[in-house]
Amino acid sequence: MSKEEHIPLENFPSLTPAQMEEKALEFYGKIQNRRSIRSFSDRMVPRGVIENCLLSAGTAPNGANLQPWHFCVVQDPATKAEIRKAAEAEEYEFYHGKAPQDWLDALAPLGTDESKPFLEVASTLIVVFAKSFGVDQEGEKVKHYYVNESVGIATGFLIAALHDAGCATLTHTPSPMKFLNRILDRPTNERAFLVLVAGFPSKDATVPNITKKPLGEISSWH
Ligand SMILES: Cc1cc2nc3c(=O)[nH]c(=O)nc-3n(C[C@H](O)[C@H](O)[C@H](O)COP(=O)(O)O)c2cc1C
Repeated sequence: MSKEEHIPLENFPSLTPAQMEEKALEFYGKIQNRRSIRSFSDRMVPRGVIENCLLSAGTAPNGANLQPWHFCVVQDPATKAEIRKAAEAEEYEFYHGKAPQDWLDALAPLGTDESKPFLEVASTLIVVFAKSFGVDQEGEKVKHYYVNESVGIATGFLIAALHDAGCATLTHTPSPMKFLNRILDRPTNERAFLVLVAGFPSKDATVPNITKKPLGEISSWH
């Protein structure tokens, strides 16, 4: 069994406790301003911004470093329109019969429904695919580990990077999402994980008046 070559760890920052606390607070100050928006303008996100944010996503920790993800960037208006049409059909089913009442109750404060104009209006959709398994050069299956956890972490990096770059996002999960494989011509070992709508808020954008749980509720020390 071969062992990967090891190299010295480089560029690990050496900070004092005070600097660390300041930086942690600074990051919180930035990330707490992130909100999911559902009303986008048509302003274009530059390709370089998306590419650099995808590079950040690709640095995420992941099961056995198999990097089980693929990001489809969609800016073509006709493809966005096709995705909107298919997503709205799925969402109609969801809101009119498929969704259990408790789920609809949980969504009520957000004011969401089957209408998804942002899928067409926003300049950019990043469809995140999870690779359930890999395929090697001989066409043999390669097992992937912790796929959901890995792709979730990479998506978190992507959302944080886009936010830091001044871009608004919405995490969107039409269910089921099989139509995305067809529209984007992705292979059967990949399944759509979520759609990240990326762009800028419309002038009249509002957000639900919701709060985040306090530290004492989301954490405990042992
Ligand atoms: C996995 C996941 C799926 C989501 N799916 C949808 C969705 O399909 N439609 C939508 O409007 N918002 C969706 N959201 C956004 C959440 O509603 C939103 O993150 C939550 O209400 C908190 O609001 P905030 O992002 O502004 O903090 C999703 C979020 C996550 C993490």
